[in-house]
Amino acid sequence: MDWGIKNRLQRIFKEDGKTVMLAVDHGYFLGPVSRMEEPRKTIEPLITYADSLMITRGVLRNCIEPRFNIPVVLRASGGNSILGKDLSNEGITLSFEDAVRLNASAVALSIYVGTDHEHQTLVNLSKLVDEGQKYGIPVLAVTAVGKELGKRDAHYLSLSSRIAAELGAHIVKTYFCENFQEVVKSCPVPVVIAGGPKLKNELDVLRIAYEAVSQGAKGVDMGRNIWQSRWPVAVISAIRSIVHENASYKKACNMFNDLRK
Ligand code: R5P
Repeated sequence: MDWGIKNRLQRIFKEDGKTVMLAVDHGYFLGPVSRMEEPRKTIEPLITYADSLMITRGVLRNCIEPRFNIPVVLRASGGNSILGKDLSNEGITLSFEDAVRLNASAVALSIYVGTDHEHQTLVNLSKLVDEGQKYGIPVLAVTAVGKELGKRDAHYLSLSSRIAAELGAHIVKTYFCENFQEVVKSCPVPVVIAGGPKLKNELDVLRIAYEAVSQGAKGVDMGRNIWQSRWPVAVISAIRSIVHENASYKKACNMFNDLRK
């Protein structure tokens, strides 16, 4: 790996090799999703608790002050909306020149293994990796977003995560599942987990984070289960304790309950 890629990855993954990424890029297909109607208001109070922000260039430029010294993972795929027929029909929506202008530490795109757009999105990934190599910018591949994908079990997530790594992704973002260790074991690059739609109980989010990290995830890249919570700072702080301080599930729950008060 070239120095630029290594350095950028080390900005995202802290000294312990782990990371708490805050995903706030949902508007690229969901529009003004609940609690992200005014991105600045939601994101700013959480920046100091995150190791990086996964974000679109539009929200970064318009809603985040450049003074914040936080690594940025720029959303680089899209081209459709929740109103369209097929979320998997994505193209590349960002140039590396713009990623450099925005001082990106990585770029992110989604792949849709097992859909009609499997080939297109996997080729997008390969192209992005090739371009990223020229600029020293790593690529994060997001697997398995969307309702049409059906069962997200260890078999499917291992398949899509491994394919992402084989095509050159430097980080894979996927979902937690039963036998998650199988997904991590067969993926030769760091795996982080998304949270998915908001769960009713924050303690369930902490359990997922705890189980994922215990089974080898290098951290989380979560969005809605943090910033759609009534207590986003308490949730992200408790997640940090799991990821960076090896806190037990019980300790993280106690931390959440104390902070929430
Ligand atoms: C979805 O495509 C977005 O890229 C999000 O970054 C991703 O789904 C993670 O966010 P959440 O934890 O809300 O699922």
